[in-house]
Amino acid sequence: MSDLRGFYTEGYSLADRAEADRMGRWRALGARSKADHAVKLCARAGLRPGTLVEIGCGDGALLAELGERGLAPVLDGFELSPPAAELARARSIAGARRIEAFDGEHVPAEDGAYDLAVLSHVLEHVPVPGPLLREAARVAPAVLVEVPLEANRSAARPAKREEAARIGHVQFLDRAAVHALVRDAGLTVAAELSDPLPYAHHAFFAASRAARGRAALKAGVRRAAWRASPRRAERLFTVHYACLARRMP
Ligand SMILES: C[S@@+](CC[C@H](N)C(=O)[O-])C[C@H]1O[C@@H](n2cnc3c(N)ncnc32)[C@H](O)[C@@H]1O
Repeated sequence: MSDLRGFYTEGYSLADRAEADRMGRWRALGARSKADHAVKLCARAGLRPGTLVEIGCGDGALLAELGERGLAPVLDGFELSPPAAELARARSIAGARRIEAFDGEHVPAEDGAYDLAVLSHVLEHVPVPGPLLREAARVAPAVLVEVPLEANRSAARPAKREEAARIGHVQFLDRAAVHALVRDAGLTVAAELSDPLPYAHHAFFAASRAARGRAALKAGVRRAAWRASPRRAERLFTVHYACLARRMP
């Protein structure tokens, strides 16, 4: 785990100020769609959490967005990378209580301490993800999992795999694999969704007008394919998948 901590510590400690700011804006943009998903899934499942914990909360971008939307009045966050936890703690997040670094394995909270645990874009970074998901299910009866579904034709290309490895992805999941993880953690899916992501996401790193044009085309084609058949689309290209899972009775 210490190697992984080092990797994520570096990722949140960029010396280049402009690059650090740009990555902060990238995480804030992602947090908006992740928060949309969380709000939608909780509404669908009829869940109104009083307490929420985000495990792997990074720099707190998602916690901030969830706090602003009032998804839960009390928010905690635990994170493997100490500088990321520091960034999250420095934000003013509505409802924030405990935001701390932890060992990436044992959430420092009692069984059932929370109404909802969130694992957002974390499981794809974990070499053996089952235990962390079980840990989330230990501290909360409902767990929201979001991951990119990267077991698809486009993401299997060597350049895409290299890029995924560069940012620390070690799991390339499809929906069935997430369902299996959820089941093995003693949970059952109560609500789920997928998202081919908006133009702003696809265009974020586009540096020229031509690149922005290609991003617009990509966003449009992907959304159309996803609308026509979401399940087929996720076998062709990466979509974000989120599910709200509950402890089995
Ligand atoms: C892509 S970021 C996601 C951050 C945030 N959850 C979000 O959705 O915006 C992945 C985060 O997972 C953290 N991470 C990786 N392995 C972890 C583990 N075993 N336990 C907790 N966090 C972990 C990394 O440090 C990083 O902050």
